[in-house]
Amino acid sequence: MAERVSLDSPWRFCLGNFSDIEKDFDYGGGDLASSTKTGDYAGAVHPDFDDSTWRTIDLPHDWAVELPCVREADPYHGYRPLGRQFPETSIGWYRRDLAISAEDEGARLHLVFDGVYRDSIVWLNGHNLGRHLSGYTGFRFDISDYADYAGRNVVVVRVDASQFEGWFYEGAGIYRHVWLEKTNSLHLSPDGVAVRCELRDCEDPLVAAVSVEAHIENAGDRDASYQVELRIDDGDGMEVAREQTLPKIVGPWQCTEIMSGLSVPEPRLWSVEEPYLYKLTIALLSDGRVTDSRDVSFGIRSVLFDAAKGFLLNGQPLTLRGACCHQDAAGVGAAVPDSLWPYRIRKLKEMGCNAYRCAHNPPAPEFLDACNRLGMLVIDENRIMGSSMECLNQLTAMIKRDRNHPCIILWSLGNEEHVIQGSAVGARIVTTMKRAVRQLDASRMVTTAMNGDWGSEFSLINDVHGSNYIACGDIDEFHANNPEHPVIASETASTLCTRGVYGDFPERGHANSYGTNVPSWGASAPDMWRYWKSRPYVAGVFLWTGFDYRGEPLPYNWPSVNSNFGVMDICGFPKDSYYYFKAWWTDKPVLHLFPHWNWSGREGESIAVRCYGNCEEVELFLNGRRLGRKSMERDSQSDWQVPYEPGILEAKGYSGGVAVLASVRETTGEVAEIRLRADRQELRADGCDVDVIDVSLVDGSGRLVPTADNEVAFQVTGGARNLGVGNGDPSFHDPEKSDRCRSFNGHCQLLVQAGTIPGIVTVEAAAPGISPGRITLQMR
Ligand code: GAL
Repeated sequence: MAERVSLDSPWRFCLGNFSDIEKDFDYGGGDLASSTKTGDYAGAVHPDFDDSTWRTIDLPHDWAVELPCVREADPYHGYRPLGRQFPETSIGWYRRDLAISAEDEGARLHLVFDGVYRDSIVWLNGHNLGRHLSGYTGFRFDISDYADYAGRNVVVVRVDASQFEGWFYEGAGIYRHVWLEKTNSLHLSPDGVAVRCELRDCEDPLVAAVSVEAHIENAGDRDASYQVELRIDDGDGMEVAREQTLPKIVGPWQCTEIMSGLSVPEPRLWSVEEPYLYKLTIALLSDGRVTDSRDVSFGIRSVLFDAAKGFLLNGQPLTLRGACCHQDAAGVGAAVPDSLWPYRIRKLKEMGCNAYRCAHNPPAPEFLDACNRLGMLVIDENRIMGSSMECLNQLTAMIKRDRNHPCIILWSLGNEEHVIQGSAVGARIVTTMKRAVRQLDASRMVTTAMNGDWGSEFSLINDVHGSNYIACGDIDEFHANNPEHPVIASETASTLCTRGVYGDFPERGHANSYGTNVPSWGASAPDMWRYWKSRPYVAGVFLWTGFDYRGEPLPYNWPSVNSNFGVMDICGFPKDSYYYFKAWWTDKPVLHLFPHWNWSGREGESIAVRCYGNCEEVELFLNGRRLGRKSMERDSQSDWQVPYEPGILEAKGYSGGVAVLASVRETTGEVAEIRLRADRQELRADGCDVDVIDVSLVDGSGRLVPTADNEVAFQVTGGARNLGVGNGDPSFHDPEKSDRCRSFNGHCQLLVQAGTIPGIVTVEAAAPGISPGRITLQMR
């Protein structure tokens, strides 16, 4: 039976291109073959190397987020000192011992890495196992021959982040999980099980035909008999289908494949509202004994992009209301803990988002699991476009790993490949890539997000035309010329807004929240949404971006180190524009008034006041005086100019002539107190779970002070720990691995990571001169 042991904790870590570590280490790759060269070198690769002065860390780990921002560094990577000119901080070494026992001898042992940024070389007991370049695909090494079954086993990983793969913050280090997998010699291949569903008879009774393909390896030196048992359980664990293949033989060191079909009568379909999951258990038997088994969670649904109707889920048209997001979060960088994914997906769903584009690389497996559970549609995106062996290996690694996830509706082969997207070379490359996808998954279409050359041969080889930005082409012309070709707005908006900021301060990298700062290729939220929405042949839109991310501080530069494109900041605090989408992307009643009403010193000055909401009319009041009633056009907003006087600014929303909603902004007093709000009241005592603690600075009446920038000091007790802090300021340079954090426009955030001993966790937050905040969490 396959056994998977987490190797996340503990590791020793050291930054450095230092001679004592790198001694006798030949980077050139020439030494990759000389893996038997034990004993005649002295660097960190050697099992006996003394790493006692190195830091002890747990995975996932991103060392880039621990580095200070440096003005000379690359703005696109968030001014972190990475790259060739920073050799001392661009290379990291990791070491740890591995528990392998005498009983493991005879099993197949694999070291499995889910994601390392990037260019990693791995050794076991001084033997060079190999090198993996991509920072985004997982990889594995069979260590069965190299392991010492009677003694110590030391894994060493050298990670070189001195070259980049993208133009955005990418992190550095072992930023996803690492596992030790143990299997019998007769086993299911890694990523070797493919489950596909087809809905038959779209009339009653509906039946799902589930086909399963499994790749089997016999890594033993004798013939092995094998038989596969398949079982499908519904969401309540009740068996709904079962199948067994006839016994067969697979020769020594041979691989084989089985194909089997099952049917699920009257299936419950997976959808955005009801993401119903089934479980396939596949057991591999040899002479009646189970030698391997695997559970695959899957959903039964149909997806289709249609040139006239747009996107159809289970035969029903569904407009994609999507967001593009990078893998980056406050306090942790690219090492996003598993439990932050559901947090982020929920925030997007609350805004009305039903789709997520993984910009611009394959995501963590745990992200896709969360999308399956929560009902978020996904475009899974390949990083490097190309048809060389290396590029195709990266592409097929993504497809094989991810093809069973019901949330994935489309494969994206690349983004803005302006060098090849209009050329014959590009057309050949995309053809080969599409063929490679088809061989592994013929059930989904492919797209490439394009910023020009719409209508080129390249663009038409893609099943779905991915249009980035209104200004990058003429979508009506494309549609008129290619009426059979489905279209999505794969990337759009790129509106710049900084949370809680109502003017433009380029010197701080802050842009106003009214959304008037739009790059030449972008559009404001209402302009962009109305444009695409009015074209029903367009399957939907993907905003750039859901959350701010490090790097790409366009159009600013130092001291701005983050992007400003998100509808939420990097912590997940909503910006005002979040409510524009919530108003028009959900059917929840929304009325959101801004800006704040603390403009001391600007008395009498005209202030731009805006309401996002979905009522029919909005009326504005200042200190009880009526300032006018306006109708709210669909997909639009209401605007006023109001001479400032302190007090209460109130908007009332009317539907059918009746006041149904109100939104109030009050001039507040000074900061008096810290308030803490936990995203969840409970943590799992598994050493990994993470809770998000939002900090608000309020006045004596409990009102958020919208300009507060107090520094808050945190203390976490009860066996949990502080994983990182952030505040959403795009020019935030303070350490994020810290027990204190300056607030930005009234808020900051703390991530609390569970320990392993159940109990009560207490989080305390204090700042000079104001009342502290305190909350408790149950760790179970
Ligand atoms: C797009 C690109 C994104 C990001 C964005 C900024 O062209 O695909 O990765 O750079 O522009 O507006």
